[in-house]
Amino acid sequence: MPVTIVVGTQWGDEGKGKITDYLARDMDYVIRYQGGNNAGHTVVIGEEKFKLHLLPSGIFYPNVTSVIGNGVVVDPRVLIEEIEIVRGKGISLAHLKVSAQAHVIFPYHVELDIAQEEKREGKKIGTTARGIGPCYVDKVGRRGIRIADMFDTEGFREKLKRNLEEKEFQLKNFFGRKTKFKFEDMFNEYVGYAHGIKQYLVEDIAPFTRQAIREKKRLLLEGAQGTMLDLDHGTYPFVTSSNPVAGYACVGAGFGPREVNEVLGVVKAYVTRVGSGPFPTEIIGEYQDKIREKGREYGATTGRPRRCGWLDGVVLRHAVEINSLTRLAVTKIDVLDGMEKIPFCTGYELQGKILDSFPANMTRLEKCTPVYEELPGWSESTQGARNYQDLPAAARNFLKRIAEFAECPISLISVGAERGQIITV
Ligand code: GDP
Ligand code: IMO
Ligand code: MG
Repeated sequence: MPVTIVVGTQWGDEGKGKITDYLARDMDYVIRYQGGNNAGHTVVIGEEKFKLHLLPSGIFYPNVTSVIGNGVVVDPRVLIEEIEIVRGKGISLAHLKVSAQAHVIFPYHVELDIAQEEKREGKKIGTTARGIGPCYVDKVGRRGIRIADMFDTEGFREKLKRNLEEKEFQLKNFFGRKTKFKFEDMFNEYVGYAHGIKQYLVEDIAPFTRQAIREKKRLLLEGAQGTMLDLDHGTYPFVTSSNPVAGYACVGAGFGPREVNEVLGVVKAYVTRVGSGPFPTEIIGEYQDKIREKGREYGATTGRPRRCGWLDGVVLRHAVEINSLTRLAVTKIDVLDGMEKIPFCTGYELQGKILDSFPANMTRLEKCTPVYEELPGWSESTQGARNYQDLPAAARNFLKRIAEFAECPISLISVGAERGQIITV
């Protein structure tokens, strides 16, 4: 099983960090392929809780090469901070690699992210304000600065000057912001960062991953965000500015799709969303707060309360198809312990008709009402279960229904945040 992709099937925060950490045990490489420090992937090891924003969730295994791929946008200040935190816990980073082709987030990207949100007034996306969108815009606009560019002092100076000039003009004249960046300071600061991460850099990602594949190493590609936040296949424009879907994983890691054997979709037993945008199965009523508290649904990056909803089968099927999922990992079923009945959305009703596929048009989506079937709940705690047979019959029934509806088998079940709280099927 040389290449496995781990992808979120919902609006992010499905538990990708936990699942990646679990699978990393049997991997040689873990590669983050898109997004940036908008991501917050939690890994709980005993008493320690790590919230990773840029470092791949395989970082805790010294024998696993952890790679930040070319598809990621890197805020070097955040990366250095994160390296320090992890190193401070006694974890070696000798096995960290960063693609020099990854694009760099500058302070003007963060400033633009904030300014654009302010201007959106009633139509805010609710971004993480980390400069992710503006950085990808520069990448696509072919004026982005890659990590490698920072080592060409004169070239970097020129590019940064040009970009800064343009951003300042935009910020001042269009957004009415008073921000004034100091070119020399920024330049020197970033040259310093470049040297700080130099030891981890991989100059050419393609030959690097190709070599690993040739040697039949096991690679795990870790997605950030989730299918519904995908720029093309999510709830546009309430999405992130990259492609979390499995199809992008190869682009963001530097090899072709024929190498991929498994695509594992992470499914939370209910759904959450941070930020604005359509969310058909959002819970109205007491369970909104109950689930948020029990599942500790607060953003790992921004600390914002996450909106909670019932498991959405339409979204799940969309994710199965868009990502060609081969297996599912269902997380947080323990949060549903003690519920009498569990609503499961099996379709959307639109003007008297039942839709069985996710509408790409947001105006249509907003008019949809979810159709639910109620599955029986269980009163026992699932947190101690380590085998499928340890689970209450109703929990097994719930999982069976998910797999049957998604037409995709479940191979992992997570019953708690801690590393060991997992069942392999
Ligand atoms: P990610 O962005 O997909 O990696 O997910 P986050 O880390 O942002 O959010 C998932 C949260 O749920 C984290 O706080 C995890 O520690 C926690 N978690 C993961 N799996 C489980 C589980 O099976 N049960 C419970 N109760 N918590 C879990
Ligand atoms: P992980 O990897 C949940 C959301 C933001 C906002 C939208 C756009 O932890 O699952 P951005 O800053 O990316 O331009 O914001 O996307 N968002 C996430 N929501 N989990 C994430 O990452 C997210 N990354 C971005 O809340 O709605
Ligand atoms: Mg998260």
